[in-house]
Amino acid sequence: MQVDQAPLEEAFEATIAGNDRIEPRDWMPEKYRQTLIRQVAQHAHSEIIGMQPEGNWITRAPSLRRKAVLLAKVQDEAGHGLYLYSATETLGISRDELTRRLIEGKQKYSSIFNYPTLSYTDVGTIGWLVDGAAICNQVPLCRTSYGPYGRAMIRICKEESFHQRQGYELLMTMMRGTDEQRAMVQESVDRFWWPALMMFGPPDGDSPNTAQSMAWGIKRHTNDELRQRFVDMTVPQAKALGVTLPDPELQWNEERGAHDFGEPDWDEFWAVVKGNGPCNAQRMAHRKAAYDDGAWVREAAMAFAARADSVGRDAEGRSGEERTGTKAQEAGND
Ligand SMILES: [Fe+2]
Ligand SMILES: [Fe+2]
Repeated sequence: MQVDQAPLEEAFEATIAGNDRIEPRDWMPEKYRQTLIRQVAQHAHSEIIGMQPEGNWITRAPSLRRKAVLLAKVQDEAGHGLYLYSATETLGISRDELTRRLIEGKQKYSSIFNYPTLSYTDVGTIGWLVDGAAICNQVPLCRTSYGPYGRAMIRICKEESFHQRQGYELLMTMMRGTDEQRAMVQESVDRFWWPALMMFGPPDGDSPNTAQSMAWGIKRHTNDELRQRFVDMTVPQAKALGVTLPDPELQWNEERGAHDFGEPDWDEFWAVVKGNGPCNAQRMAHRKAAYDDGAWVREAAMAFAARADSVGRDAEGRSGEERTGTKAQEAGND
């Protein structure tokens, strides 16, 4: 049967124009759905891969307090990945399929996680700069047009601000320490500053999807706008810390009411995006090994569910009747 799409498209456009949310059971253009799958999956993968550079330091934390903080932070990132995979599943794709696409290199994650962490100081710098950049990117996404994505972002952003503060506090502690510790902080900031600026993506002129994503209310600001906001937010924090940001062109522009700053090395950015960063191969190998190692858990869970079904109870211990009752109730809510 041919369905007339015109009224559906009209309703969709009206929802977007009214800054309302599109929900999973609403009609949406296929390109909108595909764009969201790509963006939210990339975001989910970044949370999961992003556990690696810092997870690397959990067993070598300098104190019990630092270890507890880092453990909590890395665990939060796993949770963020799960919220976002759940949001992506509402678009009609399974988490298993998304993981497969990541492992096969068909979907990407943030370029920043392809840089190594060389000392515990990097835990502080990542919290301050990388989680700081993530906050700039993500706060506007709380108002994104797709409901499940926006709601996941609200919860994630609350946790990201803890991540940023714990990083800043770690660096501040080191800056109040010895000359050697101060030098370690400066060295770490020198390595992470430019890759952090690259987290906002290529310059607006080289970002072909931005216009459509903004028209659909998926993105709320351009890459360059967000990068500027991050620089303006970070400069006074660097001053308070007593570190120098490694950019000779960085200075306040009175006329613009914003900082001027230098151009990141975009050749480096594209090399990392295309898989040739310092840690791309290591990150993917580690993710694939973790997936393979978890195969028995997934198999056991499936077998348990199947067996529970055959004896009339599901994995949560509900009988067939209870399930039907729940189903009938859900249908009634429709
Ligand atoms: Fe996160
Ligand atoms: Fe974070």
